[in-house]
Amino acid sequence: MPTPIILDCDPGTDDAFALLLAIASPEEIDLLAVTVAGGNVGLDSTLPNALALVALAGSAVPVYAGADRPLLGAFESEVRVHGEDGLGGVVLPPGGPATPGIAADAIRRIVRESPAPVTLVGIGPATNLALAIMTEPAILSNVDQIVLMTGAWAEGNRTPAAEFNAWSDPEGLAVLLSCGRPVVMATLELTAQALCTPAHLAALRGAGNRRCLQAICDIQATVPLSRRLNGAGAPLHDPCAIAYLIRPNLFTTRACSAEMDLGPGPSRGRSLVDRWDRTGRAHNVILLETLDSDGFFDLLAERFVRLP
Ligand code: RIB
Ligand code: CA
Repeated sequence: MPTPIILDCDPGTDDAFALLLAIASPEEIDLLAVTVAGGNVGLDSTLPNALALVALAGSAVPVYAGADRPLLGAFESEVRVHGEDGLGGVVLPPGGPATPGIAADAIRRIVRESPAPVTLVGIGPATNLALAIMTEPAILSNVDQIVLMTGAWAEGNRTPAAEFNAWSDPEGLAVLLSCGRPVVMATLELTAQALCTPAHLAALRGAGNRRCLQAICDIQATVPLSRRLNGAGAPLHDPCAIAYLIRPNLFTTRACSAEMDLGPGPSRGRSLVDRWDRTGRAHNVILLETLDSDGFFDLLAERFVRLP
């Protein structure tokens, strides 16, 4: 049976990969809803981006608008990676209207009413998922697990200490880490193994000439090669969270604990991942440690050629 999920995102070039991969994988994923937050760029761009991607893939999944800022503090985007519009300037045909309603309300309703436990997937700031849980904690009894692209146990990519999603709403992530449901974390150290090199991009583009595949390759071609990873490629962060649900045997995992630095200083937003049980804290995290990179890119090609 496919896993029922709600995908919360901030498209976002790599969010686009994750969203299309989820839509292309109905055997493993029952995409109940897409919820959108401000993140890589403002909600006034991430929402139309999500709607355009869903339409491009021919999906009827409902898309809900959510938070345009974090739980605390001001919104800050990351246009240096994703461009001013969030998709590297690649213009897609506009999608349809958002489904009426607020993301957090939709998450609460869908989870409350689902006949089977729902997996919450977060690939942007954790605000929408946190708001849903904070305003109706009872839904957690019908949440199977929470799968996040977030955090880092070594250096960050938005600050030396913090990964962008964790940095964007550290209080929101802290809510998820302390909610009592298992949190699967795809950190920067995992996503560095999903490094999209120019050769990978060329191979993906050669897999077919369908509109979704070509659009996603056009989008990825605009992403700067990562200085942090010696300019060898650009990490495909967000689809790692979806790939884990489709093909978990591509990954190895480690149970551990993680908590957030919520202070005002230079380490704010750092995810403190206790890989060696130094704190003795209860294990609240399933850390994704290694990725079969070849298998990951094979999966992308295998699924993206299914899309229109
Ligand atoms: O640090 C990478 C994460 O931040 C990804 O989710 C990317 O889309 C950005 O949101
Ligand atoms: Ca994202």
